[in-house]
Amino acid sequence: MKVQNISKAKRISNNMDAINEKRSNVSRGAFATALGAVVATLGSAVGLGNIWKFPYVTGENGGAAFLIVYVICTLLVGLPVMISEIAMGRKARANAITTMQRVSEKNNQPWWLIGAVGALAAFVILAFYTEVAGWVYAYVLKSLGGGVLSSDPAVTAKFFTDLVTSPAQSLLWQWIVLVVISVIIILGVSKGIERATKFMIPSLFVLVLVVAIRSLTLDSGATSQGLAFLFKPDFSKITAEAVLVAMGLAFFKLSVGMGTMITYGSYWQDDQNVPVKTTIIMFSDLLVSLLAGLAIFPAVYAFGFEPTAGPSLLFITIPAVFASMPLGQVFMLLFFLLTAFAATGAMLSLIEVPVAFLNERFNLSRAKATILTSILLAVIGSTAALSSSTLANFRPFRKTMFDLFDFLSSNIMLPVGGLFIAIFVGWVWGRKNVEAELSNHGMLKNQTVISGFLFITRFITPVLVVLVLLRGLGVF
Ligand code: TRP
Repeated sequence: MKVQNISKAKRISNNMDAINEKRSNVSRGAFATALGAVVATLGSAVGLGNIWKFPYVTGENGGAAFLIVYVICTLLVGLPVMISEIAMGRKARANAITTMQRVSEKNNQPWWLIGAVGALAAFVILAFYTEVAGWVYAYVLKSLGGGVLSSDPAVTAKFFTDLVTSPAQSLLWQWIVLVVISVIIILGVSKGIERATKFMIPSLFVLVLVVAIRSLTLDSGATSQGLAFLFKPDFSKITAEAVLVAMGLAFFKLSVGMGTMITYGSYWQDDQNVPVKTTIIMFSDLLVSLLAGLAIFPAVYAFGFEPTAGPSLLFITIPAVFASMPLGQVFMLLFFLLTAFAATGAMLSLIEVPVAFLNERFNLSRAKATILTSILLAVIGSTAALSSSTLANFRPFRKTMFDLFDFLSSNIMLPVGGLFIAIFVGWVWGRKNVEAELSNHGMLKNQTVISGFLFITRFITPVLVVLVLLRGLGVF
């Protein structure tokens, strides 16, 4: 029965491609199993955003109050946009740009621009993401040598600084990352992405849990300080910019606003319950972030680090936690290895956006599309890789290139993309299409869910995004 469904879904999607993409040479992949689709999508959401970005951004913006704003943004902005993207992608079974063209066929407005800007956003994000992933890969290797392991903040901080200020090391690690993701992407959707993530995600979860437990048992005073920082809100710390950063993080964490989820949705099966599965993905992603926070903040206080250390936070605190643990070196190796896996899973979903587009639209083979994309990324990304060394003083808009790429993508491109996706689905695509997709053409009896979704997507998401954007950017 199941096998039949899948092959039927594949047949339908292949027929659609035959009709819509006149050129040959394109055969669409799909996730092979329902669980595989969910795990692969979770694999896109869980990444450096959880392990690296969430703790340091929460640290910089005052902790618990920021966390609350972040959760609100996830529920009212991130999740609705995610449901919208998956639903449209699954309906059109195509890359983000073609999907937007197909779902908006009836009106002659340029909604495909959402997909096009999204493909650009993938480059902007990957430009700095491949660099941070490079640091993680480097830490894997260096864990083997044991040199990083120390409970002295000065030592772990120096170790990190030496790495990021070396132009040769920064570039080399970024290139290694690019080669790794290119190889996996060339292997294809089901074989590559699905197989890789299915084992990465559960192992990562267990390891972060282990680190969190160790961190929470280091020193009871530090533990209560760490917990208070994460869970006791002080709303005086919330500025308009902090709210913008929280919303940006919600987009970034759920991989929404630029077509990743449209692309992944196009590989989802027709009988998946989209609202339920996306909600599960959202909560699992949040759980991993919280665990990462629990792994880091008690340790921050136990060892005398600063929660506001910024992007270096993960790389300087985690080695200290492991230094105080039996078999610390082994665990640290495992931790960075799994973080490297998670980062890789997320990058696959990013690079898949331009690759699927080049493949389907220009009839480039996956291999050629991937190589072309990677070369471009090496060029653009090098400016981020060198932003702590050679290009440290090159600061357009008073930001290093690394910070600029980060700010531009999370705080502008993704929210703007998400805004238009919500407007399109709520107001243009409309109730009939939304109902058909979210109820699997009447198979699911979830009217209330659909009405709630439509209400939020129409009235709440767009208004929130516009207000937060304008206020955060200082327009009013
Ligand atoms: N969500 C991933 C993370 O947390 C990053 C990511 C993957 C992403 N694909 C994306 C972010 C698309 C924005 C858009 O690490």
